[in-house]
Amino acid sequence: MNVLDDLPLSRKQIVSIVEARRYRTTIWSGAVRAGKTIASILAFYDAVHKAPDTGLIIIVGRTLQTIERNIIEPMQDENVFGPWAAEVHHTRGSNIAVILGRTVHLIGASDVRAEGKLRGMTCCLALVDEATLLPENFWTQLQARLSVPGARCLATTNPDNPAHYLKTKFIDKASDPEMRLRAWNFTMDDNPSLDPEFVATTKASFTGLFYLRNILGHWVAAEGGVYDCFDPDRHVVKWADLPEMQWYVGVGVDHGTTNPTAATMVGLGVDNVLYAVDEWRYEPSSKEARRTNVQLSQGLRTWLAGPHHPSEDPDSPPRITCPVVVDPAAADFRVQLKQDGLSTGPAQNDVLYGIRTVSALFSVDKLKIADRCVGLIKEIPGYVWDTKATEEGKDQPIKLDDHSVDSVRYALVSTERKWRRRVKLAHDSKAEPVAA
Ligand SMILES: Nc1ncnc2c1ncn2[C@@H]1O[C@H](COP(=O)(O)OP(=O)(O)O)[C@@H](O)[C@H]1O
Ligand SMILES: [Mg+2]
Repeated sequence: MNVLDDLPLSRKQIVSIVEARRYRTTIWSGAVRAGKTIASILAFYDAVHKAPDTGLIIIVGRTLQTIERNIIEPMQDENVFGPWAAEVHHTRGSNIAVILGRTVHLIGASDVRAEGKLRGMTCCLALVDEATLLPENFWTQLQARLSVPGARCLATTNPDNPAHYLKTKFIDKASDPEMRLRAWNFTMDDNPSLDPEFVATTKASFTGLFYLRNILGHWVAAEGGVYDCFDPDRHVVKWADLPEMQWYVGVGVDHGTTNPTAATMVGLGVDNVLYAVDEWRYEPSSKEARRTNVQLSQGLRTWLAGPHHPSEDPDSPPRITCPVVVDPAAADFRVQLKQDGLSTGPAQNDVLYGIRTVSALFSVDKLKIADRCVGLIKEIPGYVWDTKATEEGKDQPIKLDDHSVDSVRYALVSTERKWRRRVKLAHDSKAEPVAA
């Protein structure tokens, strides 16, 4: 294994790779950037080399795109894997790769047809990326498919809810010899390639729940406030004191019929900080006060016509041309807006990804809220994790008074590609938002 000699692996990486040969399943869980994926890929190369001739070799991830980005591309990095990098052949978009001369099938768990495909397979080796994101039945199915004698499963994941099936039914049972399972927990200290400054900025970019999970590598439950790093002293600015905006990145709209309808406009300041500059809300005071989509559309469009910034002339505000993204569940409201001449897009609604992005922005003070956004400022402290869902192994906020918080999340996550290059978060999140 010449590559192992060249790469400055940490002791834990080496031991985990060598030990992986002795177990049916190896799970590397822990912090981000901890060297889990690199260790699992090395173990995978080793296993491909020794794999039985019978049975298929597969790589499993959330989608084909995440497999390509998180596994295939790093495998093709010559700086890390030297000559082995050239032994990985793959055409983007294809669900097949050839690795060390063997055909490897790439299976995205969120692809419904892929699950059907998995059902008919007999496998000898699987590499799994972001294992906690796989539905339990998919993981169970996968284990059943690994039926060839000597079959092996190599999986990485960030920690999740402690009641998650992967923790309770697998990792926690590692001491049972019948499981033939070895679980590792990595932190950034186990990755010898990181410089201290990178480690420090990465640590600073997570708070609360995400710090405990993604930095310390602990499986902890989502409890308390979702945005518990929010601090009005740091994150709320007077509207009159807003800096100039480079551009408005977008408007997010959460639609309610019996609930409030809320819109938040987000701009990118000249200081490369994102600002919730302005909001619009309609709160029905009673069932009778409920507004129709026609009326809500009217209200939203009147507000959009501005002004939204202290520098704008209230008598002739500039026309706002940024994207307007709407709660993907509110298709009928989007039709109404379209009829009224306002074209909109469906908002990205991967809730956890969005929450992680918003909290990462708050942690490094890259998201601030103008005091005009009264509804948003009021909602944030009361936006809490649902402890009942937590007990069932799911992370999900309580769906109550979450209208403005949803709208700002929609505005930010749906437009992330536009602002991301200007607003550097210390960690570069690998998860991509799921199309709504
Ligand atoms: N032993 C090592 N030597 C050199 N670079 C490494 C080593 N381990 C990890 N890295 C690099 O550190 C970064 C994070 O490693 P990765 O395995 O992707 O972490 P994780 O999967 O835990 O998030 C990657 O850029 C990877 O190439
Ligand atoms: Mg990884």
